Amino acid sequence: MSHLIEIENIGRQIKGRPGETLFDSLNRHGYKLRVGCKNGVCEICEVSLLQGEIVQRYPVKHLTLDQSLNVEESVLACTCQPLSDVRVKIEGLKCPGELSVKKLLCDIASIEKLNSDVFRVRLTLPATASLAAEYYAGQYLDLILPDGKQASFSIGSAPEQGRNLELHIRHMPDSDMSNSIINHLQTEKTVEVEIAKGDCYLQVQNIKPETRLIMAAASTGFAQVKSVVEHLLANQFSNPIHIYWGARVEEDMYLHNLPLQWLSEHTNVHFEAVVSEPENSLGWKGRTGLLPAAIIEDFDNFDDVEIFTSGSPAMVYALLDACEEKGFSEERMHSDVFAYAPRNK
Ligand code: FES
Repeated sequence: MSHLIEIENIGRQIKGRPGETLFDSLNRHGYKLRVGCKNGVCEICEVSLLQGEIVQRYPVKHLTLDQSLNVEESVLACTCQPLSDVRVKIEGLKCPGELSVKKLLCDIASIEKLNSDVFRVRLTLPATASLAAEYYAGQYLDLILPDGKQASFSIGSAPEQGRNLELHIRHMPDSDMSNSIINHLQTEKTVEVEIAKGDCYLQVQNIKPETRLIMAAASTGFAQVKSVVEHLLANQFSNPIHIYWGARVEEDMYLHNLPLQWLSEHTNVHFEAVVSEPENSLGWKGRTGLLPAAIIEDFDNFDDVEIFTSGSPAMVYALLDACEEKGFSEERMHSDVFAYAPRNK
């Protein structure tokens, strides 16, 4: 039987599953609380139990607090399992969608070329719990160079990968900024980041059972799609996921084997690669044309569809226009483009 967890100090209630720790229930519902060891040792996840029965794995504890007792006891969210409905008080809890933005110094773990101009950069966040950064799948970060210049990049890894972040950075030799970034990442050991940013993100627990997802990426927009898909697959998400990756030429799909691997391992994943300049992609036998046209061709209707898309404003709005003609409504499309390039009506 599931139980209710009432978080008194913020006036919210969530449902816990049998055998789930308080931390796991909160996390599953998108609430974030500070954790460290997850083993009952560091006590960073301490919460106050006001009412209800719990059992704590470590340090071992079994408590039953009746409302009439009017007392509160400290328990550890990472090792404490409610055995009944409980009422708790949790300081410093972040509600879904409410993450702080932090400046952190990351180690540059590696930088490798994925094709003629795209680099995969792996960063490692600081280890200490107090510096741990949290982000949602689909968010982005800013890289900050020592001279203060900064540039935004989608986080290409899923939050489940913990301290390990991945970025896909296109090098544009004509741009001083781009040269400075690549040069810094290739020659230095650390880089400052501001994380996490953006409100185009997805949390698996907020998706309705009937929802079909379309993830549409152009070029390095694939980084954002990768983060979201890896988050979904890490959480055994079983709704249909239709991934579209559009690029000028085949070579621009710098991690083409990855969606093919998802496709072969998960029956709910569908993948379409679309090349817009087949005349410059010798040997390309796949789909050709523009991404919006391919999506429109594949979907008779957009009932229960949510679209996450990353690419240029022109591509995103062309896709929105095309889908709207088939009854899709704008609120169900999610893109960072809406924040920096409002639609011209
Ligand atoms: S995270 Fe260390 S005691 Fe819970």
